[in-house]
Amino acid sequence: MPAASEPSAQRIRRFRQNLLDWFAHSGRHDLPWQHPATPYRVWVSEVMLQQTQVAVVIPYFQRFMQRFPDVEALAEADQDTVLAHWSGLGYYARARNLHAAAGVLRDQYDCQFPQSLETLQALPGIGRSTAGAILSLGCGFPAAILDGNVKRVLARQFAVEGWPGRSAVLRQLWQLAESHTPEHDCAAFNQAMMDLGATLCLRRNPQCEACPVADGCEARSAGTQHAYPGRKPARRLPVRSTRMLLLESEAGILLQRRPPAGLWGGLWSLPECPAGTDPVDWCREQLGLEVELPAPGQTFRHTFSHFHLDIEPLHASVHGDHGIMECAESVWYNGAARDAHGLAAPVQRLLEQVLAANR
Ligand code: ADE
Repeated sequence: MPAASEPSAQRIRRFRQNLLDWFAHSGRHDLPWQHPATPYRVWVSEVMLQQTQVAVVIPYFQRFMQRFPDVEALAEADQDTVLAHWSGLGYYARARNLHAAAGVLRDQYDCQFPQSLETLQALPGIGRSTAGAILSLGCGFPAAILDGNVKRVLARQFAVEGWPGRSAVLRQLWQLAESHTPEHDCAAFNQAMMDLGATLCLRRNPQCEACPVADGCEARSAGTQHAYPGRKPARRLPVRSTRMLLLESEAGILLQRRPPAGLWGGLWSLPECPAGTDPVDWCREQLGLEVELPAPGQTFRHTFSHFHLDIEPLHASVHGDHGIMECAESVWYNGAARDAHGLAAPVQRLLEQVLAANR
């Protein structure tokens, strides 16, 4: 990868000014986390936006703020309630980190946000870009950000080659982000960069005719917008499979809580019966339940970042006394107290199907 030549001071000034002028009339100014843009609200929104688009995040953000209006409310909540308010956003480690970081902020910082990049980055789940967003958007301090949208804008503008997951490429993008981020108007500049990436400098269909920084864009002048940012080298994901048991008694469907760490950590899920075992025997031996021969449902695929999981649902009625007592780690779920349980997304989908069929 060739080293990027330093952009001239004049090029930097022009880029900033064109972007800020465009932002004044075409940027997004009424996102819920902008009113008021406190460090807490910016932090939560940034973590939600790491995985999902703005339109999807907005209702989650609003519900989250209603239930956890500040650091203290979040720190005081139990993890289950936090996960339940995250249910559907995925990547639950982010919610667990958010909760853990709120505890640190309460215990060590009197619920205030430390105002340095290093200290913020020492909190669970806060990376360099999120720390930069909290300081710039939430506190008005100059700090650069580099989320996916900003990477795309910079990679095209300066024809930065290579996949940003590679450290040399990432370093180059951070250098560009930092050299372009102004001391004044930093919040507007950062929001403008994200807005440009989200509305015009699109991954598939960039709207270069409307772009305020198109005249300096190296990818555009070469007609190679689609080559930036460079793609991750392809890797086929391994496929795993599982059988999820929908065990239905008159009290509801049996849910078990997953161990706190690992896949779907702390979420409520369905019992999983290993391949090759007889589900009726397995339920008797592992759960103390007598169940009828289960009816297999349609297998479907849930994809994680590092593997595909093919899920075969097995639906069975539980005979007679439904053995298992409700306890902290298992419940009979009947849809009544929906929000009290953080559910893994495919589990939610299966439960909704069963509950809808029973209605
Ligand atoms: N993505 C990440 N942060 C964002 C923000 N503040 N506004 C819109 N999209 C974003």
